[in-house]
Amino acid sequence: MPPYWSLGFQLSRWGYNSMDVLEKTVERLRQYDIPHDVQYCDIDCMERQLDFTYDDVNFAGLPEYIKKLKNDGMHYVIILDPFLTKDEPQGTYKPYELGQELGIWVNNSDGVTPAVGKAWPPGESVYPDYTNPKTAEWWIQMCMEFKAILDYDGIWIDMNEPSNFQNGQQPGCVENHLNYPPYVPDITGGLLAEKTLCPNSKTYLGYHYDTHSLFGWSQAKPTFYASQNATGKRAFVLSRSTFVGSGKYTGHWLGDNFSRWRDMHMSIIGMLEFNLFGIPYIGADICGFNEETTYELCLRWMQLGAFYPFSRNHNAIGHKEQDPGVFGEEFAAISRSALRIRYSLLPYLYTLFYHSHVSGNIVVRGLMHEFTSDPQTHEIDRAFLWGPALMIAPVLEEGARSVYVYFPEASWFDFYTGRQVSPSWLKKSVEVPAPLDVIPLFIRGGYILPTQFPARTTVLSRLNPFSLIIALDEQGEASGSLFWDDGDSIDPIKREEYFYVEYKFSNRTLKTTVIKNGYRGITTLAYSTIQILGFTSKPNVIFMNGEAIPSNRMHYSSNGKITLQISVPLFQELTISFGH
Ligand code: GLC
Repeated sequence: MPPYWSLGFQLSRWGYNSMDVLEKTVERLRQYDIPHDVQYCDIDCMERQLDFTYDDVNFAGLPEYIKKLKNDGMHYVIILDPFLTKDEPQGTYKPYELGQELGIWVNNSDGVTPAVGKAWPPGESVYPDYTNPKTAEWWIQMCMEFKAILDYDGIWIDMNEPSNFQNGQQPGCVENHLNYPPYVPDITGGLLAEKTLCPNSKTYLGYHYDTHSLFGWSQAKPTFYASQNATGKRAFVLSRSTFVGSGKYTGHWLGDNFSRWRDMHMSIIGMLEFNLFGIPYIGADICGFNEETTYELCLRWMQLGAFYPFSRNHNAIGHKEQDPGVFGEEFAAISRSALRIRYSLLPYLYTLFYHSHVSGNIVVRGLMHEFTSDPQTHEIDRAFLWGPALMIAPVLEEGARSVYVYFPEASWFDFYTGRQVSPSWLKKSVEVPAPLDVIPLFIRGGYILPTQFPARTTVLSRLNPFSLIIALDEQGEASGSLFWDDGDSIDPIKREEYFYVEYKFSNRTLKTTVIKNGYRGITTLAYSTIQILGFTSKPNVIFMNGEAIPSNRMHYSSNGKITLQISVPLFQELTISFGH
């Protein structure tokens, strides 16, 4: 279960290079009132790129600044790389010295001398062998000690393929059947040791040849416990290398993409794949990492990225700034509005994560996942769904002001107007308008989506009134659910400290059934609006739990949309009937 704050918008870059630039960047998002929950600083914030340090010259005051961000309801994530320099003066770099004493590195084929590669930090580096339980203990201890220096909320683990700037450790890989097997998969360089360690290196679990693809996997679990133990809160881990099973401990981002339209399209495919791999917390670097982004690409990417489960704008060093506050008023307003839609839908997204957590169902889905028997959905990789009910159809081409959207057999409603999509559009690709300030979104009939009024951070939005969007199917029915808890404690589901309510609409009546009422904080939350889409005739009387609701609380528009204002605590069960 991801912490609730990690569903908020996140901002990062490699190369803020100074405290001043970092502060100015955060400040301009704030000036524009762009939702912003999480801030990162990359390896340029470290002292000479050494793990478990920060640069107290160029980033003097960083610890105090992090405290300030946190007081403001934001969260902060650190980066850690899986290599430690062995070449610092003796007595000055504890993470290496303690690890050396414990003998926890990946070793050469002799099983005793550490494999030595070259990576970000000065000098030469050794690699923690996370398949060794002693390494996990050391790592957790280092992370916990570092928490006293930088008050972080989560850990981003990078370069964990593991990455090495040379092919194999020094002095290179000997000729043998492990290092140069007769068959090599179609990988970069055609060499197993390309930019990593020699396959005949030794890990606790066996040859690197056998454990290479598990390096990131083996790092995820100890990092999860490091995050949890250090913060005392729900873990947040983000990893570049993952494997089957990693989703229990970490999310994933799609690595170093390019600021290109093609890469933006590919990110949808990656997101769909990782959901199938059991790692639903997934996203790509919004606006692109390598190369220079452009105004229009970055704007369209902010719109798409507002619908990544993991929504983070991240940039490489040396490229011009690309945060949503840097392109001026129009860009900021469009980003703000896309992110506000995201934030309003977070209760629905969080509930999807709950279902994924307890039953393995997936969060982001291809259309084929929901409409399996419709072959036309099988090749769609330009649109996707949140759960069963929200279709996102982003613009993926420069200059385009419309998109072709395929509507499988169902009732669909335009998210913005609530108007039902014409039956003549079903089972067809239809061109829908998408001016620069719009990302086309459609709600599928048959579903009830819980929403909440957005705010600049999730800490604030979580206090706001809730609404329900009830999108009716052809039978006039819909259902849904809401999971809610404190958002950042450890294992609330096991401890039964959560709230869960089911929604059902049929026979012109909404019924809510509270299945679990274990979260104390629920008492301060309330419903303020009920919206129904696809309601064909204006109701004349509305009863809520037996009492008539004054007619001025209801608005009916000719496109079949009912908006009803109420003020009822979330824990209260409701029966609202819409009479003829
Ligand atoms: C790697 C990561 C990238 C990060 C950079 C510097 O390229 O994939 O996200 O910014 O290293 O740490």
